[in-house]
Amino acid sequence: MAQYERMVIFTGNANRPLAEAIARYVKRPLGDALVTQFRDGETRVLLRDDVRGADVFIVQPTSPPVNQHVMELLVMIDAAKRASAGRITAVIPYYGYSRQEKKTVGREPISAKLVADLIQRAGANRVLTVDLSNPAIEGFFDIPVDHLHAGLLLAQQVQRLLRDTHDIVVAAPDVGAVRLADRFRGYLDSAPLAVLFKDRPQPDEVVMQGMIGDIVGKTVVLVDDLISTGGTLIAAADLLESNGASRVIAVATHPVLAEGALERLTNSAIETVLVTDAIPVPNPPPAIRIISLAPLLAEAINRVHFDISVSELMHQPRLPI
Ligand code: R5P
Repeated sequence: MAQYERMVIFTGNANRPLAEAIARYVKRPLGDALVTQFRDGETRVLLRDDVRGADVFIVQPTSPPVNQHVMELLVMIDAAKRASAGRITAVIPYYGYSRQEKKTVGREPISAKLVADLIQRAGANRVLTVDLSNPAIEGFFDIPVDHLHAGLLLAQQVQRLLRDTHDIVVAAPDVGAVRLADRFRGYLDSAPLAVLFKDRPQPDEVVMQGMIGDIVGKTVVLVDDLISTGGTLIAAADLLESNGASRVIAVATHPVLAEGALERLTNSAIETVLVTDAIPVPNPPPAIRIISLAPLLAEAINRVHFDISVSELMHQPRLPI
């Protein structure tokens, strides 16, 4: 029995196809909302569907252009709150600013915390998100955060792609990805783990310093949370190849894909890159495969609505819908 009688799902402009797919899975029409801009660039929102007392889900990855998408999310939450929504869940498949989650030198902001504060202050009651670059960001919120992982969906596709998975090594392209890669290898019959050591002399510059793990003659699956310039995965694949890997494929949840990244990845040593549709990738080349998060997010939304455990969802071999 749901706590709130009605569920209404809205979306901003960050990823309408994903929101539509989620709405199809939960068998409800997407809520009618105008999300546009005034002539001066300010965000303009009008929720045309009644939300009084409803369980409102706003699907909006805060992907590039990040500031615009963050603002759309905030203004939509505000609109729902002022229209007396019963409960508001911000469904954020990709949480922008997540890489600024600590100070690395003096006088830097912690932008991931600032964005969390804004989302709560706007009126969100819950957050549903996927593969935060650092799980500690959950603690930046004082409201419930359901943190989903795309690993199982991606691993199932890796199995389909490779068919024979006995020769696989899962690799973390940097120390920060070890936890993610370790969980991922659990979905692939506990494949062995390799770890690469990355240095960033400048913000978008990558130097691979070395690695541990036996990869000679193996198919290596690189696992990361996001791809921005592609520099991390490309440099990792080069190092793996020069150390004797026979094939390199890569999986990442968030295709942030800064300008030129798709081309660089296509021309790299990586055979195939599997990413989710947390962020839309228009016209992906054949080497980039997109796996939809819609079934996972739809099932999680249903579970939040009907007060059923969401963490259980992470341990199921197959999604129930
Ligand atoms: C942080 O290090 C992340 O996990 C990614 O490895 C990184 O942000 C990817 O960025 P790029 O594709 O620009 O190397």
